Amino acid sequence: MAIRNVVQVGDEILRKKSKEVKEFDEKLWILLDDMKETMIKNDGCGLAAVQVGILKRAIVIDVNHMYIELINPIIISSSGELCEKEGCLSCKGQIGYVKRPQEVTVKAFDRYGNEFVITGENLLAKAFCHEIDHLEGVLFIDKMEKVKRK
Ligand code: CO
Repeated sequence: MAIRNVVQVGDEILRKKSKEVKEFDEKLWILLDDMKETMIKNDGCGLAAVQVGILKRAIVIDVNHMYIELINPIIISSSGELCEKEGCLSCKGQIGYVKRPQEVTVKAFDRYGNEFVITGENLLAKAFCHEIDHLEGVLFIDKMEKVKRK
């Protein structure tokens, strides 16, 4: 495993759309392992492949002591609303409030190409939405509330 550089806002790659993963091979596994290590090293709770400069639809998440890998994720349902603090390893020093669904169900593949469905609430729902946005070139600062809340 290796720690990779996290791309920072201003780099145009963060605005590009990531491509679907078609090969669930060793190259993908190395990428995921490196992403996990990079996320942990940077005290993050999520990382998308584009943030290490790879335009693939792959995400790692570490929320509530639960480590999750999502390949080609799609949000299949969402409900409720929460507006909580958010940050991003690619927007260091910035924190803002973003409206997200309270509960989100995602369909994705694991690193071996097996499809699964997972539902997350609160912090996990937020992480799903934040990271899936990265795959579309969207950053949380685009959706941030302008007015600070208590
Ligand atoms: Co982010």
